[in-house]
Amino acid sequence: DGCDREFPLTRRNLKRRFSDSFTSPQQQPLSLLPEDPVLRQLEKEHEEATRVKNIQKITIGEWEVDCWYFSPFPEEYAHCDQLWFCPKCLKYMRWEATLSRHLVDCEYVRGPPGRVIYLEGDLAVYELDGERPEMKLYCQNLCLLAKLFLDHKTIYYDVAPFLFYVLCRVGEEDACEVVGFFSKEKQSLDNYNLACIMVLPPWQRHGYGRFLMSLSYELTRREGKQGTPERPLSDLGVVSYKRFWGRELLLHLMRMKRTDNHVDLVAKRLGFTTSDVVDTLKDLNIPVKAGKIQPVANKRLSELLNSKFKLKPEHVEFVPEALYWPVAQE
Ligand code: ACO
Ligand code: ZN
Repeated sequence: DGCDREFPLTRRNLKRRFSDSFTSPQQQPLSLLPEDPVLRQLEKEHEEATRVKNIQKITIGEWEVDCWYFSPFPEEYAHCDQLWFCPKCLKYMRWEATLSRHLVDCEYVRGPPGRVIYLEGDLAVYELDGERPEMKLYCQNLCLLAKLFLDHKTIYYDVAPFLFYVLCRVGEEDACEVVGFFSKEKQSLDNYNLACIMVLPPWQRHGYGRFLMSLSYELTRREGKQGTPERPLSDLGVVSYKRFWGRELLLHLMRMKRTDNHVDLVAKRLGFTTSDVVDTLKDLNIPVKAGKIQPVANKRLSELLNSKFKLKPEHVEFVPEALYWPVAQE
């Protein structure tokens, strides 16, 4: 088999549109190896495996996407030029024909195997627990898929300590298409509220990254916590987060009471860490004295907002009221 020419796919070859002049100033993180010896060995082998890009492109749903980085697929897949992903269960295959056979009886009809926690318009978010046997494989596949677009070490197989928030577009007949996701440690000693975020390249620059970041902070606020994404951030992670923090902070400054200008209080209300707020204020050239944000005229704040942080009208928006979380335990 190997070449099923009858399988109809709309081909859209989307290349990475990000300027390569961005260079990563960050160090590779030290890997936190899992305790389970088998998983430990797997992670280690992959850590040592070459970082040279192996898979050149993937097909997922109607998209054909050029890959950016190495991802540690199991040996028999690791040296393929192209992989075909089932858009529903995220199983990956070496041949288009295998995929078309699989699609006939893929058991995932209604999207990822988790609970819907957000539903608004044509967007749905599913919450998955990497520990649950019926969700584990999906989460592992998602991590392998994500690594194709991430330049630093992430988890791939040891998904049990994480929750996954998968953003889907719901189409006709409730067909779900994965747009992006983020993972989150169930318990983080470092106040991390997000471990890894990825939006598939065809969907990037449409506000989905920002949507996922908004969701991550809404969860943090509902937990009564303050959080920050796991470091290091990728180049794209840095630009997207700076933009997110800047906009959220400006909006908050515009509507807060003048007397509520303590950096700590502002951070608490936003669910940001104090240091993220301080850094963002610095980026915005807004002075802080004795822990208090100095007054800035609303006119200047809205000028800043409109000049540097304006959203495109077609960008998707996160609606907090459409988030049903926490969900009562079964
Ligand atoms: N070039 C320049 N600026 C960009 C780019 C780009 N390619 N992509 C995003 N930005 C900036 C823009 O200012 C953009 O706003 P704009 O389109 O209005 O100008 C802003 O970031 C946010 O854009 P979104 O559309 O909300 O974000 P997107 O859906 O593109 O997702 C993400 C951002 C998740 C970082 C995506 O680029 C991605 O998946 N990258 C690959 C994986 C990755 O690097 N993840 C982050 C790792 S760090 C971590 O996981 C903790
Ligand atoms: Zn499938």
